[in-house]
Amino acid sequence: AETPVAKTPPMGWNSWNYFAEKVTEADVRAAADAMVASGMRDAGYVYVNIDDGWQGERDAKGVIHPNARFPDMKALADYVHAKGLKLGIYSSPGPKTCAGYAGSLGHEKQDAQTYAEWGVDYLKYDLCSYRDVMKEQAPNDLEAQMRMMEASYQTMRDALNTTHRPIVYSLCQYGMDAVWEWAADPHVGGNLWRTTGDISADWDRIYALASQQAGLAAYSRPGHWNDPDMLEVGNGQLTAAENRSHFSWWAMLAAPLLAGNDLAHMSPEVRDILTHRDVIAIDQDALGKQATRAYAEGEVEVWTRPLQGGALAVAVFNVGGTRYAGTHPFHLDLAKLGLHGAQQGEDLWTGKAVTLHDRQPIALHSHDVWMVRIPVPHA
Ligand code: GLA
Repeated sequence: AETPVAKTPPMGWNSWNYFAEKVTEADVRAAADAMVASGMRDAGYVYVNIDDGWQGERDAKGVIHPNARFPDMKALADYVHAKGLKLGIYSSPGPKTCAGYAGSLGHEKQDAQTYAEWGVDYLKYDLCSYRDVMKEQAPNDLEAQMRMMEASYQTMRDALNTTHRPIVYSLCQYGMDAVWEWAADPHVGGNLWRTTGDISADWDRIYALASQQAGLAAYSRPGHWNDPDMLEVGNGQLTAAENRSHFSWWAMLAAPLLAGNDLAHMSPEVRDILTHRDVIAIDQDALGKQATRAYAEGEVEVWTRPLQGGALAVAVFNVGGTRYAGTHPFHLDLAKLGLHGAQQGEDLWTGKAVTLHDRQPIALHSHDVWMVRIPVPHA
């Protein structure tokens, strides 16, 4: 049986988006330290996840060992746990990971056991070279390849279950074979599954991934989440508006909130976005229903998310280059959200009380977001 984890979307940090395969144990310890010092832990972040690049060689018995950048995995897990945090790791059902390190093919039970002995709490399992295995073993038979893929995820699920340790299971196969339709089935027991290819610290890419989540709301629920990939907040050249929109969108989508920046050296502005509790509360809402796109008008998209107790979150994203301000605001059409009459809400980024009327004018700069929580919506 699957383990009772991820009742709300997992929150934490992952090494890949900033450190990629050069990540070291010192980087991971520094991320854990910063998660505490920045207030992120207190805001709900828990998982400190090592992505690709930690693996060394297998010994004569086939046991995997970390490489020289990770001298002692058990000590690292103890360090992370002592801070009230949890440790995540990464592997592949194939012979090699995406960055060319050792994968788990043929060693699934052994690896799951090793992770459990170290004290690992989260596994991201990335298809990578298993795609080649599928193609080799079932040439020109896509159907058979997809069955193999699913079976490979079941094999690791079974191996994780054998350890009796609660380990969050994150499927990473880039949304192939409509993964959202089968990843949560008990024999696979995925707690989250990537729905897309890789994110990058680029507005167009972030927007593309966000819009690909339209239509997936029915598939996520407590314990099982669509994963539009890890956060790029604070990475690259993203503007403050872009960081805010990216974070808001992932919160609306009930997406895992896995920061992907250098936590030890982030700006106060980035820290304030990542720890913005009112927005995090939307992501972590106990109802566990992700947002749907209510409507789009020009380059503005309006998404709504039902919340526990009948409340509603509304987010308006300006995905284009137009600046809606002053005498040229965007007009939010409440009727298109099924709302009628004045609505009382809270602006989730300013914390201010707001009253919304039909065709409510909203100032919205390029790539920025406006987000409100309406505790008692009037239909
Ligand atoms: C794939 C995944 C990324 C990352 C890299 C590591 O591209 O989608 O999230 O894990 O592999 O090599």
